[in-house]
Amino acid sequence: MSTPFLTPVQDGIKEVEQLMRSQAGNEHHPDLRAALEHLLVAGGKRIRPTIVFLAGNLFNAPHKKLVTLGAAIEMLHTATLVHDDLIDGSLLRRGIPTLNARWSPAATVLTGDFLFGRAAKLAAETDYLPIMKLFAETLTVIVNGELTQMFAAKGIIERKNYYSRIYAKTGSLFEMSALSATMLGTEDESVRASMKTYGYEVGMAFQIMDDVLDFTGEQATVGKPVGSDLLNGLVTLPAIYYVESHPDNPEVKLLAEGGWGNTDKMEILVKSIQSSNAIRHAIDEAVEHVDKALDAIKPFNSSPEYESLEGLAHYIVDRDF
Ligand code: IPE
Ligand code: IPE
Ligand code: MG
Ligand code: MG
Repeated sequence: MSTPFLTPVQDGIKEVEQLMRSQAGNEHHPDLRAALEHLLVAGGKRIRPTIVFLAGNLFNAPHKKLVTLGAAIEMLHTATLVHDDLIDGSLLRRGIPTLNARWSPAATVLTGDFLFGRAAKLAAETDYLPIMKLFAETLTVIVNGELTQMFAAKGIIERKNYYSRIYAKTGSLFEMSALSATMLGTEDESVRASMKTYGYEVGMAFQIMDDVLDFTGEQATVGKPVGSDLLNGLVTLPAIYYVESHPDNPEVKLLAEGGWGNTDKMEILVKSIQSSNAIRHAIDEAVEHVDKALDAIKPFNSSPEYESLEGLAHYIVDRDF
């Protein structure tokens, strides 16, 4: 699909990547440099730094600060993925092997820690204490979400549980991206609150689409294995819709009784969900979040950056990767 909203931020994203690349200086272990290079070459959609630039530019935040903030956030995101892939035993990310596919768990953990350290240093270099606080708080929300998902989410068919999970793993960092970039440009609390809402809603929509793509996507485009959430006991929005409309389906009953470990039956359930209206309903719900995001930024619709923020919000529900 076309992504014209990316044009005004393309150079900034290159600066962010440059700054991330420079974080493993010569004084560090050569394997850390190699790992960082491996992670950077893999790319990624860079959607969080894109939000940083679009939101920050709307309020004339200093460009250099946005580059630093964008790198801090993308680095934090990358660090969480390094640890997450180890936790999940995932061997493929962004179309290439993960660190844990090649390295020991110990080396992978330490590389993730290095990235967290660098991300925190970059966040501090925005020279704005409230952003540092937000950064630390967001990291704790993400980690708490990962733990909750591991210990208290397997097989649970419950909307509240689902929404708090996706807020922790995705909504929180999107929210922080939009809010912290805005904070570098304006002290107006109501403007900050509007942009925080934009980030939150766009993040929730993004994760719902990620969960839809786990049912409908192709590994080649998504860059990571698909079709695995339910087999891992993760009941996401498409599955919740399906369960609600098919209470008597035998596989639904099995899932409700805690039988998500029965791979053969869960594979049948995945196929049923794929060809059902549940997919459409979940996408509709993502669109509702996008509408709320657009409502939040309406006050700024006379500025040229508004269109880009609007474009990004629409892209989130139209993407196939
Ligand atoms: C992947 O995030 C992890 C989730 C929060 C679902 P992205 O889909 O933004 O991953 P990259 O950075 O583009 O690879
Ligand atoms: C990863 O969560 C997101 C984090 C913030 C750690 P998941 O394990 O659900 O996502 P993918 O499928 O690996 O991207
Ligand atoms: Mg994972
Ligand atoms: Mg995970």
